[in-house]
Amino acid sequence: MRQVSDSSLYHDKANALYERVKHVVPAMEWATFVDDIAAILELKEKRNAVILAHNYQTPEIFHCVADITGDSLALARKAQTVQADVMVMAGVEFMAETSKLLNPSKMVLLPSQEAGCSLAESITADDVRLMRQRYPGVPVVTYVNTSAAVKAESDICCTSGNARQVIESLGVEEVIMIPDEFLAQNVARETGVKVITWKGHCEVHERFIPQEIREWRKAFPDIVVLAHPECPPEVVAEADFAGSTAGMSDFVASGKAARVLLVTECSMSDNLAVEHPEVEFVRPCNLCPHMKRITLPAIRQTLEAMSGQVEVDAAIADRARQSIERMLAVKV
Ligand code: 13P
Ligand code: SF4
Repeated sequence: MRQVSDSSLYHDKANALYERVKHVVPAMEWATFVDDIAAILELKEKRNAVILAHNYQTPEIFHCVADITGDSLALARKAQTVQADVMVMAGVEFMAETSKLLNPSKMVLLPSQEAGCSLAESITADDVRLMRQRYPGVPVVTYVNTSAAVKAESDICCTSGNARQVIESLGVEEVIMIPDEFLAQNVARETGVKVITWKGHCEVHERFIPQEIREWRKAFPDIVVLAHPECPPEVVAEADFAGSTAGMSDFVASGKAARVLLVTECSMSDNLAVEHPEVEFVRPCNLCPHMKRITLPAIRQTLEAMSGQVEVDAAIADRARQSIERMLAVKV
């Protein structure tokens, strides 16, 4: 008897959330989400769990079950202070590892073992050691989109939200900046610091081309173009603003644009459209297959089975954590 009334309570809570996302989620789709949302709301309480969701998660996750949202930098900062017993990462593996490193007494669950990242896949700890041999004395700045093993071989991490400040904090003329070639080139242009790069690319952002943006501008002359700095430099050069996913959100929230083209992963536009129904989003859609492994059923299953636990090898954890903590100490 108690179970029936509990479950109808969570269904009521879930149904009430539709108002929030109805602008971007059709009613027919919602009908397929609501049972999982109700179950997840109940499981979060039962397990004393919170869900952290990256800006690229779909709206039914981002706006209906997540407790903490943001870009990689915000998720890392907020993970440090989580009090709940369990953190479920609705994001990708490097984000889950970062949460575990920064709050090691908590259990961190990743709902899909296939939620990787083409940048993290592009480089190993051995590669970093070889780079150091080749360029002795040059500091290694590593994008957070990497494994903990790679972070452990680095001097300091950065995200797209603080790359400029991290590089400038070093006060040097040359850095090794790995593994995102385009982010490194974009930051080199911004800071004037010489970068030795790696050939890693984000499989979502590398696909954008300048021509595509020019055509959108022709179709909508008033459009404001916001690009993620993982895009090739020639694409960033076409944009009105380049910044992390949080930087793009802040730009939209500033009210400076009535029609926006986000040159990034598709779900960003949907999530921002929920918060800013007055803004028109033009959507050139490139999906991140890794982020999209995280679904409501996957989150529900993870919380039911308490599966997908993320651990970081003790032999590398301290050094990886240091690289992240040095980054967090840099003021943005
Ligand atoms: P942000 O840190 O800007 O959220 O980017 C993370 C990411 O994976 C972008 O592709
Ligand atoms: Fe990695 Fe690109 Fe996906 Fe971000 S969008 S997780 S950088 S593959």
